[in-house]
Amino acid sequence: MKSESMNSSTSSTSTTTTSSTAESPIGQTLIKLISNLCFSLFVLSVLLFTVLAITYQPPDPWLDSSRALTTSLTSTLPNSTFHTDDSLLPTGEDLIPLSPTPSPSSDPLVPRSPEICTFPTPINCSDPRALDAVRRFTAEVFSRRGIVFLSFDPPVAGPNPGECDAAWRFRNKREKSWRKYRDFRRFRLFSTENCTYDVRFMGKFRSGVNARSPPGKIKSLPVEVVDSEVNDTIPTVGSEAEFKNGRYLYYSRGGDYCKGMNHYLWSFLCGLGEAMFLNRTFVIDLDVCLASEYTSSGKDEDGKDFRYYFDFEHLKESASVVEEQEFLRGWRTWDRAAKGKKSGGGKITVRKVPTYKVTPMQLKRDRSMILWRQFDGPEPENYWYRVCEGRAAKFVQRPWQAVWKSKRLMDIVTQIAAKMDWDYDAVHVVRGGKAMNKNLWPNLDSDTSPDALVQKLLKVIYPWRNLYVATNEPFYNHFDKLRSHYHVHLLDDYKEFWGNTSEWYNETRVLNGGKAVEFDGYMRVAVDTEVLYRAKTQVETFNNLTSDCKDGINTC
Ligand SMILES: *[C@@H]1O[C@H](CO)[C@@H](O)[C@H](O)[C@H]1NC(C)=O
Ligand SMILES: *[C@@H]1O[C@H](CO)[C@@H](O)[C@H](O)[C@H]1NC(C)=O
Ligand SMILES: *[C@@H]1O[C@H](CO)[C@@H](O)[C@H](O)[C@H]1NC(C)=O
Ligand SMILES: *[C@@H]1O[C@H](CO)[C@@H](O)[C@H](O)[C@H]1NC(C)=O
Ligand SMILES: *[C@@H]1O[C@H](CO)[C@@H](O)[C@H](O)[C@H]1NC(C)=O
Ligand SMILES: *[C@@H]1O[C@H](CO)[C@@H](O)[C@H](O)[C@H]1NC(C)=O
Ligand SMILES: *[C@@H]1O[C@H](CO)[C@@H](O)[C@H](O)[C@H]1NC(C)=O
Ligand SMILES: *[C@@H]1O[C@H](CO)[C@@H](O)[C@H](O)[C@H]1NC(C)=O
Repeated sequence: MKSESMNSSTSSTSTTTTSSTAESPIGQTLIKLISNLCFSLFVLSVLLFTVLAITYQPPDPWLDSSRALTTSLTSTLPNSTFHTDDSLLPTGEDLIPLSPTPSPSSDPLVPRSPEICTFPTPINCSDPRALDAVRRFTAEVFSRRGIVFLSFDPPVAGPNPGECDAAWRFRNKREKSWRKYRDFRRFRLFSTENCTYDVRFMGKFRSGVNARSPPGKIKSLPVEVVDSEVNDTIPTVGSEAEFKNGRYLYYSRGGDYCKGMNHYLWSFLCGLGEAMFLNRTFVIDLDVCLASEYTSSGKDEDGKDFRYYFDFEHLKESASVVEEQEFLRGWRTWDRAAKGKKSGGGKITVRKVPTYKVTPMQLKRDRSMILWRQFDGPEPENYWYRVCEGRAAKFVQRPWQAVWKSKRLMDIVTQIAAKMDWDYDAVHVVRGGKAMNKNLWPNLDSDTSPDALVQKLLKVIYPWRNLYVATNEPFYNHFDKLRSHYHVHLLDDYKEFWGNTSEWYNETRVLNGGKAVEFDGYMRVAVDTEVLYRAKTQVETFNNLTSDCKDGINTC
């Protein structure tokens, strides 16, 4: 049987050989042709693969979440990874149409009954008529400036008769988050013959210091906190049972550490998105390494706190996260406890996932308490966001809405905008490296020169308006010529808001174990971006000031 089949196969082979030999020279030419073709195909595919490998580019963060983003953000430099226009830094609150606006305070206005009163009456700040006057006045002044009032505290007496200090919470319509900001101002009131009060004078932003502390809050805090609403404390892991009831997704530090912030966010949101897909708690490393492009030393600086830049409180509310050190402490403690018992019951089960090639879908059914993704390979194999590439992109959604800018930075934004009474226009002037690069942006430098700026802005912004200039131009006096036409404001005019007497300084120092925190390049751009977004008229560099393309020559 066996030999028979051997024989038949041999014979058939020989037949084929003979037949092909017989058909030569046409057959031979054909074989040659085919083999040549195959070889070329092989060479071509090797070439293609090489080209692909060389030009491999990770996807662009802004591009891929396109639905959430405005088109102006969607293009990148063809040459680079994550080189979106880094002179602007939008985050979740800028990009995603969010939650409905909380409705403004709806306490009824005091009915103006035809009371009999002696006129003029002395002003009593606790009288409901004082609050009524303040509310009518502020509504009239600020509604045109995009400010929504959410709640008022009862006014308290100011230092002089007739003066009352009132505090309230508000939000800016141009900010899509629901975060509230606090203001307290001094008012000078007078009484009318109709038994009502009216406002004669309103002080500046946060001038009503007697109303500074919200009622019911302890006034003797170690640090005087104006915005007592930021609560980004690190939650501690609870009891053994609580810890063991959780299911965790833990990413070891990968090659993303010390990369640019766009890269960081793109990777971080991949991990968080996978955790949501797997219905697990994400273990977050609050230690952020700031890339050299944003540091004053020009070197990568690690040991930065996530909370300097982003709103950890909002993150805690929008996603299930546990801080890494707390998580490791819990793991060590309860693991030892389980080993001590030797009963085997309640053991902490861990599955190590050595490569991103194991997809989120493959992990969906895994019941281990801890899924530990390790990123040990060489770059770019060790980037977190590789997990979300390919088919996984269809299953894992990046939760952009979970990342907002730090409320402390936003408080600086609010203070700057308030200094201009929310009544300003802004121009975004991109210079820096792009202005230097005449090959890719031939006209940018001249189009953003002092004379060109004056000429172009006068066409779109009325003279003597407040003009905020958001820019990466390091030379402060570059904008001096605008000063003969506008009230020019630059970020550096507001150093007091992060200087060593500021609230920001006090609060970030607490986060940093008592050491002062530098107001770094990333924070500068974050604040610049948000002040720009709150302006009435916004003039952009590309399109409005220059016809050069945002991403270099011939890209638009
Ligand atoms: C592309 O990037 C490389 C390395 O970052 C740089 O040397 C080169 O000049 C860039 N090319 C262009 C056209 O910007
Ligand atoms: C001020 O008004 C409050 C509330 O109407 C009242 O309780 C208080 O006695 C008044 N104070 C004075 C000095 O009239
Ligand atoms: C008092 O009320 C009358 C009628 O309601 C109104 O015309 C007048 O302007 C009011 N006066 C003041 C000072 O508000
Ligand atoms: C801050 O939030 C945590 C929960 O995340 C809560 O336990 C804590 O009491 C809050 N602290 C303050 C001062 O509100
Ligand atoms: C997600 O996990 C929680 C507890 O960890 C559980 O109560 C819930 O049912 C899970 N949801 C899904 C869709 O698996
Ligand atoms: C704050 O900074 C200024 C100048 O930078 C310095 O002279 C001053 O001593 C500092 N004050 C404190 C309290 O650190
Ligand atoms: C910051 O803290 C210092 C001392 O801790 C305090 O004197 C100062 O008033 C605080 N400044 C602000 C703006 O809260
Ligand atoms: C800037 O350019 C855009 C697009 O061309 C245009 O829609 C917008 O009105 C311009 N802004 C100003 C202030 O001229």
